[in-house]
Amino acid sequence: MDDAAPTSPRLHRRFPELVESLPHVRLGDVPTPLRKLEGLGTRNRAWLKDDSTFGSGGWGGNKVRKLEWIIPDVLAHKSKQIITVGGIGTNWGLAAALYAKQFGIETAIALVDQPVDDHVRAQLARLQRSGATLHFTHTKLRTVAAAPYLMLRHVRGGRLPYYLPAGGSSPIGALGYVEAGLELAAQVEAGEIPEPAYVVAAVGSGGTVAGLLLGLRLAGLRTGVVAVVVNDTLPLGPKDLRDLARRTETLLRRRGAKLGDIDLDSMELTVTRDYLGPGYGYTTAEGRAAQRVGEEFGIPLDPVYTAKTFAGLLEVEATSRGGDRPIVMLDSFGPRTD
Ligand SMILES: Cc1ncc(COP(=O)(O)O)c(C=O)c1O
Repeated sequence: MDDAAPTSPRLHRRFPELVESLPHVRLGDVPTPLRKLEGLGTRNRAWLKDDSTFGSGGWGGNKVRKLEWIIPDVLAHKSKQIITVGGIGTNWGLAAALYAKQFGIETAIALVDQPVDDHVRAQLARLQRSGATLHFTHTKLRTVAAAPYLMLRHVRGGRLPYYLPAGGSSPIGALGYVEAGLELAAQVEAGEIPEPAYVVAAVGSGGTVAGLLLGLRLAGLRTGVVAVVVNDTLPLGPKDLRDLARRTETLLRRRGAKLGDIDLDSMELTVTRDYLGPGYGYTTAEGRAAQRVGEEFGIPLDPVYTAKTFAGLLEVEATSRGGDRPIVMLDSFGPRTD
């Protein structure tokens, strides 16, 4: 692999020792655009990093960044089958199924119930068309109970399936957002945006925020992360997110990256549950209001993740936190026309 190629990941360019030990496949165009949301908010300092554009297959958004590292790892394990879990409207499961198929890998997903609305119905129909094998296990408890059977049921070529946690938030998956943190730093360096005070991002399974923490730290930005919890079925707090960032750091070191000292504890991380409402998948009045504002700015927000995150953006933007520096929302929702 040519580690100087402009499309090669920043982690490879920065740590050439990872080129062989941590393979990567390109699944979307980088850098994703930054846009100032001119006139939005009370201090006119809201920006969008538009990861909805990321992903050249049938679905986009934050999950695809994770798959750029996960798929080569599955292939390195000579596995032809992945098994994962999600809600019946899972963006993760859909992205995994669609992109893994391009590499000859089959996907099985254990699906847990979540509140059903038009958005979820449409997503379930996409999952059914994706070619993935769907197991409706309904609850977390039943999923855990069924796990041994499902693992055996999906043995291929004498190998157990490659298990991926909900949301693809293994340390390997979190590398997608280490990369995004480095990418944002390069955009700051290129003068596209002043150094942000905060990135505001949704927390479902945690890999996005954990990866961002590590990526922003590696890049040396003084940018904090505001993590908007949207999923209470995986109740993640600051400790869990920092732990995943640390495990991701350990992965990089084990694969040979010469990282030097990294102080993740000094990274500013705020985790808020203020926008969750009654729980995962339930709409909220603030989320619906945020969707209407988003529409005015041409940003389609989904009710489960990004509407609640946008509500968080609006509130942080209005405070004095970070002075006049930008507050950047990560738009992680990547729908594609069917
Ligand atoms: C659109 C969208 N945004 C954000 C998230 C949260 O990302 P993570 O699971 O890495 O915390 C998800 C994950 O489920 C998602 O589908």
